[in-house]
Amino acid sequence: MSSQIDHLLNETRRFAPSAAFAESAVADRSLYERAAADREGFWADQARELHWHTPFTQVLDWSNPPFAEWFADGELNVAYNCLDRHVEAGNGDRIALRWEGEPGDQRNVTYAELTDEVKRLSNVLLDLGVERGDRVALYLPMIPEAIASMLAVARIGAVHSVVFGGFSADSLRARIDDAGAKVVITADGGWRKGKVSPLKPAVDQALSDRNGSGIQETVEHVLVVKRGENEVEWNADRDIWWHDAVPQASAEHEAEAFPAETPLFILYTSGTTGKPKGILHTSGGYLTQAAFTNRVVHDVHPETDVYWCTADIGWITGHTYVTYGPLANGATQLLYEGTPDTPHPGRWWELIQNHGVTVFYTAPTAIRSFMKIGRDVPQSFDLSSLRLLGSVGEPINPEAWVWYREIIGADETPIVDTWWQTETGAIMISALPGVTETKPGSAQVPLPGISIAVVDDAGEPVGNGSGGLLVVTEPWPSMLRGIWGDPDRYRETYWEKFAEKGYYFAGDGARLDDDGDVWLLGRVDDVMNVSGHRLSTAEIESALVGHEGVAEAAVVGASDETTGQAVVAFVIVKSRYLKQNPVEGLGDELRKWVGEQIGPIARPRDVYIVGELPKTRSGKIMRRLLRDVAEGREVGDTTTLADTAVMSVISAQVK
Ligand code: WT7
Repeated sequence: MSSQIDHLLNETRRFAPSAAFAESAVADRSLYERAAADREGFWADQARELHWHTPFTQVLDWSNPPFAEWFADGELNVAYNCLDRHVEAGNGDRIALRWEGEPGDQRNVTYAELTDEVKRLSNVLLDLGVERGDRVALYLPMIPEAIASMLAVARIGAVHSVVFGGFSADSLRARIDDAGAKVVITADGGWRKGKVSPLKPAVDQALSDRNGSGIQETVEHVLVVKRGENEVEWNADRDIWWHDAVPQASAEHEAEAFPAETPLFILYTSGTTGKPKGILHTSGGYLTQAAFTNRVVHDVHPETDVYWCTADIGWITGHTYVTYGPLANGATQLLYEGTPDTPHPGRWWELIQNHGVTVFYTAPTAIRSFMKIGRDVPQSFDLSSLRLLGSVGEPINPEAWVWYREIIGADETPIVDTWWQTETGAIMISALPGVTETKPGSAQVPLPGISIAVVDDAGEPVGNGSGGLLVVTEPWPSMLRGIWGDPDRYRETYWEKFAEKGYYFAGDGARLDDDGDVWLLGRVDDVMNVSGHRLSTAEIESALVGHEGVAEAAVVGASDETTGQAVVAFVIVKSRYLKQNPVEGLGDELRKWVGEQIGPIARPRDVYIVGELPKTRSGKIMRRLLRDVAEGREVGDTTTLADTAVMSVISAQVK
């Protein structure tokens, strides 16, 4: 990491906002002044941009930390804010979703149409017995029905748990069980990489074969969208086709007002243990910060922009910056089903050209893979509609930042590098376009109303020019309200480390430059970031030891040119297994195995079969040393190992 820091410190390029951009920018400098003068009053103003059926009188209640309540005596309906109010304001004909499927099929969905669809679906869900507070799992491709499903669940006061379509049946089952979902909404399949990737079979598998598991089945119905047209098995007692139920349902549904702290969704993310955490978000505070940040950071002008966030709704970025932020703001957005390189490597640039995308928000890993393909591909499309670019998910190296600006942004568009997390719910650190002079590689400044610090282990500020741990020092509206079913884990994971100060510990290392701007340095815990997706070393290790041949496993995140980090596994094979099976091909088999157990994103890049693992005298695996091996570096200090010779054995075995 130290070479990375040196490299970052040498970055001195600066980009001032253009006068033209600044003139019509949503954000201006006064936001900082207002927030600094009265933080809670500032957030109350932002919250009042939403429609409240019952206005709130109280802003933040922090009397029972770390459990915050925002706008608690106010009542609103999240879906009403994203739909009906735009129709009632006369904007029903505005396109909400310009959808394009991977094969090129297209659908435009207006705010009036989306509202109508969500009302019908709300009635269907109510008919299926979904009540306020019940959980509904979504396992869907990126199609308009996915957005409608999130909003319908929200509209009736139920709680959605979106599971990324790339997760395995096992991962889906674990999430369904943890949340106790009553209904699953899925599709037969969706288009990915030129073919239909089935989804319904994974749902069937997740819901079958539970004998002896001791876990009671909570799912009563599965609602299935027809998209892939692939053959699916049918359980007539349980399964319902969307097209049989939704169009026939009544389009009359009045949005009920719910208290601001009504749970809105659970989204699972990887932590430092093998068990994913169900991050819980609620309604009023979440929607306030989602809408505000989308407005000021993405500079959304709903009447004129075509906004595109490339994230899947299976991740927090898709929740906040595909569904809730842009729709609360009444924006028009592009929604794309497929992969960036199908059927050709210029697919995304073609979409930007054909749909006239103006604001584009994506991840550094995508930018780096486009850099590798070369500038000719994007340069053969007309990208002149773009006026603002954003980055999210992992640190963006200055080279990628500058390439993004020069090649995609015509050397002109501002770039916002946005730091946040599943837990923070919305953007926390970012430049404001039109206001901030930007620095390639730095996320820079906390947003107005957000208080962060970089501190040492004792919680003391490190000061400009030094590195430490990133903390949030004051509660914020879209903060997580807990971990589903596990308040102790919530406290331990985020609040225990700086309990005396009452700081939220984000798990990231960061450095302040001489101007006090923040440079993110990556995770400081056993969490990896692969292509902007969070993966837990423990979760992959436990999948590996679930294979009959594996006795022990250690997983590290090794730096990778394209994906940021890559999963590298070191495994010890059971001698009993080796007596009966060849070792050749086992590495590939284990890669495939992890893909099946968790999902293809978790598949290790490399699997090394070794005789031993480096452990301290107390038995803790020293991942730092394995990372040295995985990254081809000289192995660091081994003096705390129980057996100091083990690393030379491992290095030899890896070669
Ligand atoms: C982790 C959160 C936020 C949505 C996508 C990921 C890393 C995120 C940045 C950034 C440097 C970043 C952090 C963070 N991260 N954005 N702009 N610069 N690092 O959400 O899966 O909850 O992961 O992603 O390490 O802790 P997530």
